[in-house]
Amino acid sequence: MSVETIAWKQGKVTIVDQNALPGRLVFLDIRSTADLCRAIKSMKIRGAPALGAAAAFAVWLGIRNSKAKDYKALAIELKRLITLVGSSRPTARNLFWGLEKIEAALQRNRYCPVSEIKQALLQEALSLLEHDKSVSRKIGSFGQSLIKSGDRILTVCNAGALATIDYGTALGVIYAAKEKGKKVKVFACETRPMLQGARLTAWELRRHGIDVTLICDNMAATLMRQGKIDAVIVGADRIAANGDTANKIGTYSVAVLSTYHKVPFYVAAPSSTFDLCISSGEDIPIEERPREEVVSLFFKKPIAPEGIRVYNPAFDVTPQELITAIITEKGILRPPFSRNIAGKIKD
Ligand code: MRU
Repeated sequence: MSVETIAWKQGKVTIVDQNALPGRLVFLDIRSTADLCRAIKSMKIRGAPALGAAAAFAVWLGIRNSKAKDYKALAIELKRLITLVGSSRPTARNLFWGLEKIEAALQRNRYCPVSEIKQALLQEALSLLEHDKSVSRKIGSFGQSLIKSGDRILTVCNAGALATIDYGTALGVIYAAKEKGKKVKVFACETRPMLQGARLTAWELRRHGIDVTLICDNMAATLMRQGKIDAVIVGADRIAANGDTANKIGTYSVAVLSTYHKVPFYVAAPSSTFDLCISSGEDIPIEERPREEVVSLFFKKPIAPEGIRVYNPAFDVTPQELITAIITEKGILRPPFSRNIAGKIKD
């Protein structure tokens, strides 16, 4: 049932065009760094873990036909490509993690002939796909222990198979609960302005046979007040050393609501989402996206007066004190997060 959001097939990178969903499942073949960077910026491929692999392949596409004769010349080209790809989207830590993995593979193979270094870079990019598949399943396996049969779970944005390679983080927990025979019901917030919840999460969960109900973002409070939500599970784009978590805009409001209504609020993310170099969420770079995303309904129909001023931050930061637990592939982290993150997350 699962689709691979990104794959290496016969000399090209194949991605699922997430902007065509839910209407059509379209696969795009991408052959250049520039095209893959455009796909990342326009969110044809998106979601933090998927961006890590996409970034690695974007560099590989640029380096594979390099005429560099030695390591030094190749390293200069690689650095330029890493800077270029690194400027595509700023918030997801995984994107930079993917680039660092490629850079490290270059360093490890610096004494090899150029052709072998190139092969090593491709192998590294491919290994990120397998790594993500395994990490997502471990997150699911740990996370499902927090879920009881009959739970009604609210989620924001899309942290599923479409945001990873083929399984998901927040939605991976739900898939793992289902695999254990638990019955869960999911409420998917539509996630304005790009509607990842409506277009992607609703599509993906239904395809996996999960009972899913779509709600507008501003309905979460009412559902919690009515006692209809047992847990919130969201993904993350970057987690600071103290546990502050950046995720899709709107996540913070849901965390505040959860605290008020005493609903557990879980974040599910791989260790590649943690940024131990920053002490708190204040230092997380927040992407601002084009005004068109807000003033038109998915670029199709105007829904605001022409020329209106727009503010469109794509992410917000949930302070760690609103988070019940962070589910990672290394286990479930609970407060105090600073100490427990430092103890478990190494890179
Ligand atoms: O702008 P997007 O669609 O890339 O934002 C994605 C999210 O906010 C996800 O929740 C996050 O990347 C985690 S995906 C497992």
